[in-house]
Amino acid sequence: KLPYAEPFRIKMVEEIRQSTKEEREEWLKKANFNLFNLKSSQVFIDLLTDSGTGAMSDQQWGAMMTGDESYAGSRSFDKLHETVQNITGYQYLLPTHQGRAAENVLFSVLVKDGDIVPGNSHFDTTKGHIEIRKAHAVDCTIDEAFDIENPHPFKGNIDLQKLENVYKRYPKEKIPFCLITITCNSSGGQPVSLENMKAVKELSDRYGIPIYFDSARFAENAYFIKMREKGQENRTIKEIAKEAFSYGVGMTMSSKKDGLVNIGGFIALNDAEIFKKASNFTIIFEGFITYGGMAGRDMAALAVGLNEATEFEYLESRISQVEYLGNKLIEFGIPVQKPIGGHAVFIDALGFLPDVPREEYPAQTLANEIYKEAGIRTVEIGTLLADRDPETRENRYPKLELVRLAIPRRTYTNNHMDYIAVAIKNVYDRRDEIKKGYNIVWESEILRHFTVELEKA
Ligand code: F0G
Repeated sequence: KLPYAEPFRIKMVEEIRQSTKEEREEWLKKANFNLFNLKSSQVFIDLLTDSGTGAMSDQQWGAMMTGDESYAGSRSFDKLHETVQNITGYQYLLPTHQGRAAENVLFSVLVKDGDIVPGNSHFDTTKGHIEIRKAHAVDCTIDEAFDIENPHPFKGNIDLQKLENVYKRYPKEKIPFCLITITCNSSGGQPVSLENMKAVKELSDRYGIPIYFDSARFAENAYFIKMREKGQENRTIKEIAKEAFSYGVGMTMSSKKDGLVNIGGFIALNDAEIFKKASNFTIIFEGFITYGGMAGRDMAALAVGLNEATEFEYLESRISQVEYLGNKLIEFGIPVQKPIGGHAVFIDALGFLPDVPREEYPAQTLANEIYKEAGIRTVEIGTLLADRDPETRENRYPKLELVRLAIPRRTYTNNHMDYIAVAIKNVYDRRDEIKKGYNIVWESEILRHFTVELEKA
């Protein structure tokens, strides 16, 4: 058997520069110990996010040149519409400038004060768009997801009992929909099985609740289904994705992930009434309904990107690279969420830095140490991200305190992965010396992690 190699070659490169430890210490302090405040030139390898940070293909760049910039009725919209219909099976399309804008538009139609939106560990902007409307997101993810050593193949799955409890406790009018996030970013880039989606649909049908998907990484989810779910191994990614979408009535999309573009999002759905209402909000918040905040050229690149992202060879290369990094960390004994996720490796900061008190933000502390060590920017998925309870204003301590190493698509090589693994091992080797974390100096009311200012505890 031949060894595995990427199904692409590189025809344009971008220089990145290393810095010294002293420089990084200084920059981190100036950034108020918040990695979002760093300049990209102060970062050697950027694992802050896989969102909008990937490389486009020559086919996508070619499509950019043919984009139709008409305000209404753009050819590029038609092309995108046709592609989305083919992949999702949904009839109507509303482009938006990114995923959270799609949430804003759709939730403006569907979510009201006092509503309950159950789902599998809603993403932070999603929860933000629910809570800003004085509604509540209820996490119904299976318990296995929160045990990092449990090798469950579908740790994004919804616990049917938890979901039914929500359906029994609240009247139907209070539950506008159930939201399935594929893959489940917050539980570690973990997939949801077709079997689970089908069961969630059957249960929700009984209570008259529709299902929507937050589908930022729907193609990676389909890849995991093909690799892990019995009976799915001979189907194409596109067939699996389409079956998944058939269990819902619509979706929001951040095209910056599995759309393989640097900006963009959309809503796709089947209900004509909801489409009409959402069209009005699109016009107010985003732009006319055939561009919704996107340039024609960006829609053209997205149409190509959606097709590339649903090719098996692409997904195999992408997800194997993430797994390669994850396996290196496992070899070094570093505690990570298992199995390795689709877009990122998630390090368990409580296991890595047991001496840093929970109130001093161990995951943020670890992310800052990794930056200081080697110029690698990661992101905290822990207490800072979880925000305060909207009513009590107390810190919400999530079950897991994680540092996410998100891998941009088609961007770094496995030499970069080796570098990252050794850098983190170096921090791991000196973990006993790290006993103090950070205190908050200033924070915003909602989504505080983006702008929080910290000081050393
Ligand atoms: N849903 C999920 C599951 C996401 O991961 C994101 C973004 C969004 C919605 C919002 O989309 O950024 O285009 O507005 N996640 C990025 C991340 C930011 O780093 O995980 P957006």
